Amino acid sequence: MKEKTFALKGTVFYSKTKDEICVSPDSYLVCEDGLSAGVFPVLPEAYQGIPVRDTGNSLIIPGLTDLHIHAPQYSFRSVGMDMELLEWLDQIAFPEESKFSDLEYARKSYQIFVNDVKKSPTTRLSAFGTLHVEATELLMDLMEETGLKAYIGKVNMDRNGPDTLQEKSVPDAKRDTLNWIADVQDKYTNVKPILTPRFTPSCSDPLMDELGKIQRQYHLPVQSHLSENLSEMAWVKELCPNTAFYGEAYDQFGLFGGEDCPTIMAHCVHCPDEELELIKKRGVYIAHCSQSNTNLASGICPVRRYLDAGVNIGLGSDIAGGFSVSLLRAMSDSIQTSKLYWRLMDHNAKPLTLEEVFYMATIGGGSFFGKVGSFEKGYEFDAVILNDENLPYPQEFTPLQRLERLVYLSDDRNIIGKYVAGTKIF
Ligand code: GUN
Ligand code: FE
Repeated sequence: MKEKTFALKGTVFYSKTKDEICVSPDSYLVCEDGLSAGVFPVLPEAYQGIPVRDTGNSLIIPGLTDLHIHAPQYSFRSVGMDMELLEWLDQIAFPEESKFSDLEYARKSYQIFVNDVKKSPTTRLSAFGTLHVEATELLMDLMEETGLKAYIGKVNMDRNGPDTLQEKSVPDAKRDTLNWIADVQDKYTNVKPILTPRFTPSCSDPLMDELGKIQRQYHLPVQSHLSENLSEMAWVKELCPNTAFYGEAYDQFGLFGGEDCPTIMAHCVHCPDEELELIKKRGVYIAHCSQSNTNLASGICPVRRYLDAGVNIGLGSDIAGGFSVSLLRAMSDSIQTSKLYWRLMDHNAKPLTLEEVFYMATIGGGSFFGKVGSFEKGYEFDAVILNDENLPYPQEFTPLQRLERLVYLSDDRNIIGKYVAGTKIF
């Protein structure tokens, strides 16, 4: 029998479309050689004899993808939540990230991060490290051991930061980035590098130009921030007078999607129409970070507009703009903020549904990693087992209602099992 071939038994959920969750009560979800072989009411003849993990009354969902998270910010999450973005970066985030020049400090902080993300419903993530090569490689080592799959970026930033958190020169930044890529690109099974210009205010044109060249040489994906906060956007306009909108500040250096440059842009709260058009044309992934947009008072992201436009969109925790690492929480936050958008900003922008946020948290973000985020045959077998026995109820709930309760009420206690590409995490 092939390795990584087994079945999970329970009530299985996955998105059929953005608007429909396929629910299979008391069924067998078969993993064959690390891929989903499908969901069956009885175990098919061909799979008789494979190991079966009976999860009892539990719910089984595809693993969730966090498209945007800052690993070094995890341990201070929930501190400094009364500031807006630019002040928060200067006062809280930059001073903390400066400490990651000390590898022992970095180890303490990153160990806390990986322990918690391992227990969460996240199976895939795209994370920022800091600008420090050694600490970022340590984060990659620790993440590799968890079994989760991740893109992790050494951050690039050479302007407008404190002296303690700024690359010394463009040649230094280029050398560090190339050394980092050489060290890590073939080192891991689960972890891959992603180019990470922090955001336009942190990156000079010559640095962006070098990163564009490195992208074309190594074909690495890219992650950054876009149109998050109005003061940030006004600053980008000043810094880049020749661009019509923020996205062009990346695009002019070839760092904004396209076939050979898979790109995640976090936030996209205030994108003008031309920017949205370019996002769509280039296949850029939007990481919707609802909780962070609320905490840093960035605004309410018009997710309905993005779904209607048919752009790639998934969810991000944006730790530590966001304080919760749980993508189930990101789902409920996204529903709630979409209701405020509808009530306060646009009566035609219908609130998001459970089906839509489930789609974004699974296949929406998962597709950045390939065939990920579904249990249809052929998808990588990423699964999370949810148990709701600590949330008792006297009435009858449908399976979808039970899932909905977990979206709003769950914490780590409800996550009782996790698989990534057929490998059991716990
Ligand atoms: N823009 C640039 N850096 C950051 C960061 O660390 N967090 C958020 N939310 N936005 C940013
Ligand atoms: Fe961020």
